[in-house]
Amino acid sequence: MKIAISGKGGVGKTTLSSLLAMAYAQDGYQVIAIDANPDANLAMALGIPREEAQRITPIAELEDLIEERTGAKPGRAGGFFKLNPKVDDIPERFSATRDGIRLLVMGTVKGGGAGCVCPESAVLRALLAHLLVGRSEVVIMDMDAGVEHLGRGTARGVDAFIIMVEPGQRSVHTALAIRRLAQDLGIRNCYVVGSKTRGEAERQFITDNLSDFPILGFMDYNPDIAEADLKGLNVYEAVPQAAHTARKMKAELERLLAQGSRDD
Ligand SMILES: Nc1ncnc2c1ncn2[C@@H]1O[C@H](COP(=O)(O)OP(=O)(O)O)[C@@H](O)[C@H]1O
Ligand SMILES: [Mg+2]
Repeated sequence: MKIAISGKGGVGKTTLSSLLAMAYAQDGYQVIAIDANPDANLAMALGIPREEAQRITPIAELEDLIEERTGAKPGRAGGFFKLNPKVDDIPERFSATRDGIRLLVMGTVKGGGAGCVCPESAVLRALLAHLLVGRSEVVIMDMDAGVEHLGRGTARGVDAFIIMVEPGQRSVHTALAIRRLAQDLGIRNCYVVGSKTRGEAERQFITDNLSDFPILGFMDYNPDIAEADLKGLNVYEAVPQAAHTARKMKAELERLLAQGSRDD
């Protein structure tokens, strides 16, 4: 199972990624959490100590590895390289682990555009395409709004694509743009999670504006979440209410995915 989380900056993607990673890990899944943001901070939301997080080598910085695996030098135009780099052993060597969650950090993935075949993208794509095997494994990718570098083949391998949205026109606008991109890439299961909602009217705003998306739930505004961030605490452990909401979203996601596969 591969879950990707996208949305406007600051909407709550990293918070949700950490919460879902913990929820799956608690249920006995082996979770591979991928931080695909240039300013990676998923480690913090998982409560991984700063010193440990700093020891993780971002995948994109592994020039030698990328060159070895793809046959091309990162950041250099031209040259031929294989698009199927071997990635099976990357997690062990370049990750931090806690409570059944293995964290990988992508670093800056250059390029964009659906046709981008830069070596860093090739590694990201290969990670997504090959990482997942067993039934008891879940990949959770904390992305930014730029989903186009996923590429078509990889995007189709995403089982659930969660778009986070805050009550606000700009956030809704970004959500719609992301969904268009996701559809162009052939991603099937797009879901919405409402974030930082305060009260029924704000929830309704999201429901009304994104009425054709299935909504997994709402991560209501909760000052304890921001407080946990300030203290660098694991959100799931520090804010039981947020953990509870994430568990409900996980259950809803499972319900919808099961329904979808029955309908196929
Ligand atoms: N439901 C929420 N209630 C209150 N604060 C939140 C909530 N979700 C996220 N935040 C806070 O908003 C900020 C941005 O959240 P973050 O998860 O880092 O967003 P993103 O990864 O989308 O940029 C952080 O300080 C975080 O603690
Ligand atoms: Mg983030």
